[in-house]
Amino acid sequence: MTNTANVAKGLEGVLFTESKLTFINGTEGILTHLGIPIQEWAEHSTFEELSLALLDGKLPTAAELAAFDAELKANRAVPQALLDVIAAMPRGVHPMQALRTAVSYLGLLDPQAEETSEDARRAISIRMIAQFSTIIAAVNRAQEGQDIVAPRMDLTHAGNFLYMLTGKEPTEEQARLFDIALVLHADHGMNASTFTAIATASTLSDMYSCITSAVGALKGPLHGGANEAVMDMLDEVGTPEKAEAYISGKLDRKEKIMGVGHRVYKYFDPRSRVLRDYAELVANKEGKSTYYQILETIEKTVVDRIGSKGIYPNVDFYSGTVYSDLGIRKEYFTPIFALARISGWCASVIEYTRDNRLLRPDAVYTGERDGKYVPLQDRQ
Ligand SMILES: CC(C)(COP(=O)(O)OP(=O)(O)OC[C@H]1O[C@@H](n2cnc3c(N)ncnc32)[C@H](O)[C@@H]1OP(=O)(O)O)[C@@H](O)C(=O)NCCC(=O)NCCS
Repeated sequence: MTNTANVAKGLEGVLFTESKLTFINGTEGILTHLGIPIQEWAEHSTFEELSLALLDGKLPTAAELAAFDAELKANRAVPQALLDVIAAMPRGVHPMQALRTAVSYLGLLDPQAEETSEDARRAISIRMIAQFSTIIAAVNRAQEGQDIVAPRMDLTHAGNFLYMLTGKEPTEEQARLFDIALVLHADHGMNASTFTAIATASTLSDMYSCITSAVGALKGPLHGGANEAVMDMLDEVGTPEKAEAYISGKLDRKEKIMGVGHRVYKYFDPRSRVLRDYAELVANKEGKSTYYQILETIEKTVVDRIGSKGIYPNVDFYSGTVYSDLGIRKEYFTPIFALARISGWCASVIEYTRDNRLLRPDAVYTGERDGKYVPLQDRQ
């Protein structure tokens, strides 16, 4: 008899490494980076500062941050050869497919791509953090048949992205709100895409391969794709009055509700609270949008009906409405997740490869033990 009792399905609870970057307490809804609560990062910090803090494992000095910011800006432009590839991509592809291909192609154009020393990984990371923004915005423009917008050096990382995406300079308030969304998504421990990046790195593969793998993992609807799926759900619900019956029907049929539930959080995801506060702020200022009202009802119905199972809104629940208020199309929600998570991926790969060990788990074999090879012509 095969013993499957010790199988950790989904690797839940399996500890495979140590990390000083991110701490999560899922039962109390706590998330910290370098020991600092996510709420403080969201309120006081910027995406640039958190990215550097994750890469270096410490809060930067003002001079270090200024130098990092200048380096990011100096690396915003991407090679023309990559823009040509982006312009030549078939129309109608999902932007995550485009991003996956673009990152991989960017590696072909980087003479340092094959270097795997810590210094090389860090230098490539900074370029990728800067260039993800330009790539994603360029994909959007090309797919829409619009001219690609060159980066501006006088805007923040968040502000410049919105500018390149829409061709219009965002207000300070819009840029800051988007910056906060990036801060909230920058890192989240051993999530599937970070684990994927680390698994690739553990073979001593190059940085572009690690990040290309991570983009592929983030694309799925159980991970990064959930925020887009939430918007599909809101469109399907249509009006706030229909929300309760829609959700109850889904729960009765044992179907998953997108944007709720989490492998780690068994209470409110703290990032969803920060985003809800901002969504509420916008709602109070400009009136409650239909999306916001539907989300309010869904949250109440889910918490009432399955809160006892530890199912609460996660970060993807409110992020979509925040982005859609900024005029961003839902197909770009997952690429925006990648725009933020690139920092966590790079920092985690660098941290892991300092004391690398090839990742190679095992499976309990439950198949045939004494199979016989039957010649093809004798098989039924
Ligand atoms: C993220 C996710 C995969 C985590 O799942 P998990 O850790 O495997 O959770 P479990 O399957 O152990 O869930 C426990 C129970 O809650 C239910 N549940 C979990 N997520 C649910 C959801 N989104 N909607 C409805 N019920 C859900 C499960 O069906 C299970 O019920 P049961 O005990 O009656 O069988 C899951 O919650 C999900 O698919 N969520 C929607 C996608 C999403 O928003 N992903 C983004 C994550 S940031």
